[in-house]
Amino acid sequence: MTDLIDSLASGNDLSDDEWRFLLEGDYDRQRLFDRADKVRRQHYGTDVYIRGLIEISSFCKNDCLYCGIRRSNANAERYRLSKEEIYACCAQGYELGFRTFVLQGGEDAYHTTEWVEEVVSAIKEKYPDCAVTLSLGERPQEDYEIWYKAGADRYLLRHETASRPHYEKLHPPQQSYKYRMLCLQNLKQIGYQTGAGFMVGSPFQSTDDLIADMRFLREFQPHMVGIGPFIPHHDTPFAAYPQGTLEQTLTMVALTRLTLPHALIPATTALGTIHPQGREMGLQAGANVVMPNLSPVSVRGQYSLYDNKICAGEEAAEGIALLKSCVTAAGYQVVVSRGDSVRMR
Ligand code: 5AD
Repeated sequence: MTDLIDSLASGNDLSDDEWRFLLEGDYDRQRLFDRADKVRRQHYGTDVYIRGLIEISSFCKNDCLYCGIRRSNANAERYRLSKEEIYACCAQGYELGFRTFVLQGGEDAYHTTEWVEEVVSAIKEKYPDCAVTLSLGERPQEDYEIWYKAGADRYLLRHETASRPHYEKLHPPQQSYKYRMLCLQNLKQIGYQTGAGFMVGSPFQSTDDLIADMRFLREFQPHMVGIGPFIPHHDTPFAAYPQGTLEQTLTMVALTRLTLPHALIPATTALGTIHPQGREMGLQAGANVVMPNLSPVSVRGQYSLYDNKICAGEEAAEGIALLKSCVTAAGYQVVVSRGDSVRMR
């Protein structure tokens, strides 16, 4: 087992059987987590980067079977932030020490190329020392280019699963695995610090699917990787499926750190949702980013991707003092920094 972890940490790919053992074998996972933490400290010390997450719209034209804001969910509450509301979130976030703003939303046709371009330009003009991350889904390459020219630094687009048959079980036929992967290629080629990612324990996911995720990460070399447990949402076709486990999610975080030593890996909100110490455990298994919610308190409950999503306490941007003390207690520290990938410096 130790040999396998060494081999992975030295940059080798593993055989299917070796991957299978690391993913589902009976061994001391704590040793894996400790090794991932060691690698993270070699590249990022004890720094934890914070990102102010602004959920700009809960309208979505997509119909992902797992997601609470899918188009078909007539019970979903829909809202959209105005430009002024977004700028107010940034102002509050800057005061609190955030130097990255993440604009995330459903795929909302209201967000035209020009609308997003203007918002990105305005934020970059007001806060030249901050990074802007977009997470607005699949768009034509030209949109990505225009937004990059307007100053967007990073883009998050989880691949969700690197196995095409599995992708097709999680999405309706209108949503194409090939196009999603093309979007990721385009983003990286344009020059964005690009984020991929996947859910752990999503319906129909096999160990081989998770191996495909690891191989995809190794090949694509994203700068950022978001990994969280699948959590059912009561108004989706996957309401009755079990949630992903803490241990399996931490295992994937740790294996990702060993595969991509320089990656920016968030301890995700979903991880914090399935266990009260989930995010701290994520940090101790190789994660180095947290993304507190900067959205206006009035809309927070409406960006409901899955049940029981946390949005108060240390998860909320106003809870930054609490977050800092939790991060410190876990052995790290929150820093005021853009928190770029060390590969970009
Ligand atoms: N459980 C966990 N994560 C989810 N996401 C969407 N729905 C769920 C769910 N039910 C994740 C997807 C998406 C990100 C914004 O949220 O991976 O890319």
